[in-house]
Amino acid sequence: MKLQDLRATIFFLLSLLAILPHIIANLDSDKHALLQFAVSIPHLSKLNWNSALSICNSWIGITCNKDKTRVVAIHLPGVGLTGHIPANSIGKLDALQVLNLRANNLNGNLPSDILSIPSLYSIYLQHNNFSGDIPVSFSSTLGVIDFSFNSFTGQIPPTIKNLPRLSMLNLKFNSLSGSIPNLDVSRLSFLNLSYNMLNGSVPYSLRKFPLSSFVGNSNLCGTPLSSCSSRSPSRKGDNFKKHSNEIIIPIAIGGPCVIILLVLFIYFCYINKKVNNNTSMVEQKNEKLEDFENGVQDSEKNELTFFKGCSYNFDLEDLLSASADFLGKGSYGTAYRVSLDEVSMIVVKRLKEVRVVKKEFEQHMDIVGKIKRHPNIVPFLACYYSKDEKLLVCEYVPYGSLSSALYGNGRTRLDWDTRLKVCLGAAKGIAHIHSEGGTKFTHGNIKASNILLTRDLDGCISDFGLSPLMNHTSIKNNKAVGYHAPEVIETRKGTQKSDVYSFGVLVLELLTGKSPLPLPGHEDVVNLPRWVRAVVKEEWTAEVFDAVLMKYHNIQEEMVHMLQIALLCVAKVPDMRPSMGEVIKMIEQIKHL
Ligand SMILES: *[C@@H]1O[C@H](CO)[C@@H](O)[C@H](O)[C@H]1NC(C)=O
Ligand SMILES: *[C@@H]1O[C@H](CO)[C@@H](O)[C@H](O)[C@H]1NC(C)=O
Ligand SMILES: *[C@@H]1O[C@H](CO)[C@@H](O)[C@H](O)[C@H]1NC(C)=O
Repeated sequence: MKLQDLRATIFFLLSLLAILPHIIANLDSDKHALLQFAVSIPHLSKLNWNSALSICNSWIGITCNKDKTRVVAIHLPGVGLTGHIPANSIGKLDALQVLNLRANNLNGNLPSDILSIPSLYSIYLQHNNFSGDIPVSFSSTLGVIDFSFNSFTGQIPPTIKNLPRLSMLNLKFNSLSGSIPNLDVSRLSFLNLSYNMLNGSVPYSLRKFPLSSFVGNSNLCGTPLSSCSSRSPSRKGDNFKKHSNEIIIPIAIGGPCVIILLVLFIYFCYINKKVNNNTSMVEQKNEKLEDFENGVQDSEKNELTFFKGCSYNFDLEDLLSASADFLGKGSYGTAYRVSLDEVSMIVVKRLKEVRVVKKEFEQHMDIVGKIKRHPNIVPFLACYYSKDEKLLVCEYVPYGSLSSALYGNGRTRLDWDTRLKVCLGAAKGIAHIHSEGGTKFTHGNIKASNILLTRDLDGCISDFGLSPLMNHTSIKNNKAVGYHAPEVIETRKGTQKSDVYSFGVLVLELLTGKSPLPLPGHEDVVNLPRWVRAVVKEEWTAEVFDAVLMKYHNIQEEMVHMLQIALLCVAKVPDMRPSMGEVIKMIEQIKHL
């Protein structure tokens, strides 16, 4: 038996030894490749690409995979890069999925090793000055290619036919000539070949794209452009034959589909109007995108202010042109999840109730930005202030909010250990904000929907420090006192002790499973502290706990301890409440029981 154990251990260690150098070598070779790139692009030295810093956590524009073993994305749009990209630099990053070098001054040939990176999905090189031929070897994983606004010449490589995942191809405003190759159009939803020097006829498969996908190529012909027949009568019969059998089939198949699509379209328009009267992010983006292309972007772009430690690099256009999913409406505005590409997700919040002028906003954000990163705080990445639009960008936490975990449909109810862990995590986050932001700095809006759950079900605080910037409509309009301390309702001013009160209400919520705010479909809202005090006074303590928790054994004592802590936090007199540091110590003692 012992011998077997030993053998297994040795085997395990040997396999570990075999894997380890592999992993290290890969991140090391990624680093080496990036430094190779930086050497030829002088401006990059101004970025913090320093071999002493951790490439995954600190290098601007670099995103690694989850285990931080490989570089998977480079985002460096509009940072003033100049020069050639050498071969054997970026092309060596063989786990790269996204390359975004949009809106720089890169020139010369595009090295052929980049397009053949085996994992590459999207490549954004628009608004540079690349010249020469487009390399011919494409990785079959490519889905998004944007080479628009460059000086590429020669033909569109015929090998581009073999890209089954291709969904977007933008080659407009180059000097490409020759005929358009057939493309695999199974996924292709966006095509723009305008303003090149292409000739010949539009391949049959691409005729479903609008005229505007092909304009500005004076020698190009065939649907949707003018017919080729006048130029080359010999091909007329050929064209007609193709038409006659392929047009009837789409009509026969298309009829019912069109009707279904129409019904769906009308339905969604209706739903959209009903649920959300605001212009959606998606509507907004097209307007802005046009502005960008008309060249007004530069002044706008500069106004996106990045917080320290943001390792993503994006600009306003990225935000407004990326696909955005509605996440929810909070007291400060609407949140959208935006995917910059296949691997990076961020959250963009459109703040609705900002009451301060730009200068004040920026000064406050400066203070917010000084708060060091902490594992229990969702970091802000960037902010933006203009007359019509105030945006706040923060990291995306995939597991949703505590309130959706507690009350959402079909979600697993949280067990006791998880609730305790979430409380402790949230307490640590709030304590960090209190100690880092100065004695007057508060979170100001602690509630279940502002506590997000991380992958390992820890509590992570979001939206801190915004309340001084906002109108307090939520207090005025809402009969429910919710999480607000009595003094906040009176004076509209929060203190660190009022954060402690809100945290206490949150703990009561986790213990009782009752929401202090109205939930959809539930009219009755309890004043949680008052209700709990009343029940406890009558010595019915067991009655307050969430029925879901009662099925776990041996936790009653811990729950009672937690209840006592929560009741200390919701003391009516602010000075009677403990500090967040004290709260953490008390919760940690429960854990040791
Ligand atoms: C782009 O590069 C070409 C040479 O390849 C050069 O003639 C042209 O002036 C460059 N354009 C800009 C805007 O730098
Ligand atoms: C298209 O242009 C190329 C040169 O760029 C020329 O060789 C070819 O014959 C032209 N094809 C047609 C159909 O006009
Ligand atoms: C293609 O680009 C041109 C020039 O910017 C534009 O006018 C046209 O609307 C675009 N077409 C599509 C389908 O995006």
